Amino acid sequence: MRLLCALLLGLLFFSCGKKDQQPVSFREQIQPILQSRCVKCHGDENAAGKIVLTSYKAVVNSRTLKGKKPLVVSENLSESWLYILSGTDQPHFRMPPDTSHITTLPADELQILGKWIMQGAKDN
Ligand code: HEC
Repeated sequence: MRLLCALLLGLLFFSCGKKDQQPVSFREQIQPILQSRCVKCHGDENAAGKIVLTSYKAVVNSRTLKGKKPLVVSENLSESWLYILSGTDQPHFRMPPDTSHITTLPADELQILGKWIMQGAKDN
């Protein structure tokens, strides 16, 4: 029995590990999130804070208001402002703003965003 449990646990870890390695696609998974929750205010024409989130290039070229920091730092969640502002529990600077009637990123979207950054924030 113990052996069986160990085997099953091993299998579980193995399959989870495998799933984790599947590459997140910017175009297929990240862009739709930004499109539905951010682009209303960060589009090409109505770029709040001059931040544009309509394409990979625009995301990478956008900078924070203070300090002009990049929104995405590859493999570094604590410096990726796109991730920080979408995931923070502090409503006064969370994106999208509470006043916008667009709901904040649910856990699965935040997780996929984080995974994409940790996988190198690729243009894929
Ligand atoms: C309802 C409009 C609206 C939506 C939706 C929205 N934002 Fe913003 N965003 C703003 C405004 C307004 C600012 C601030 C501009 C300013 O102060 O000049 C801002 C600023 C930012 C900044 C810069 C913050 C700073 O302090 O440098 C980032 C990064 C950002 N938004 C990312 C996002 C992301 C990511 C999403 C989607 C998850 C999003 N925003 C959705 C309106 C919006």
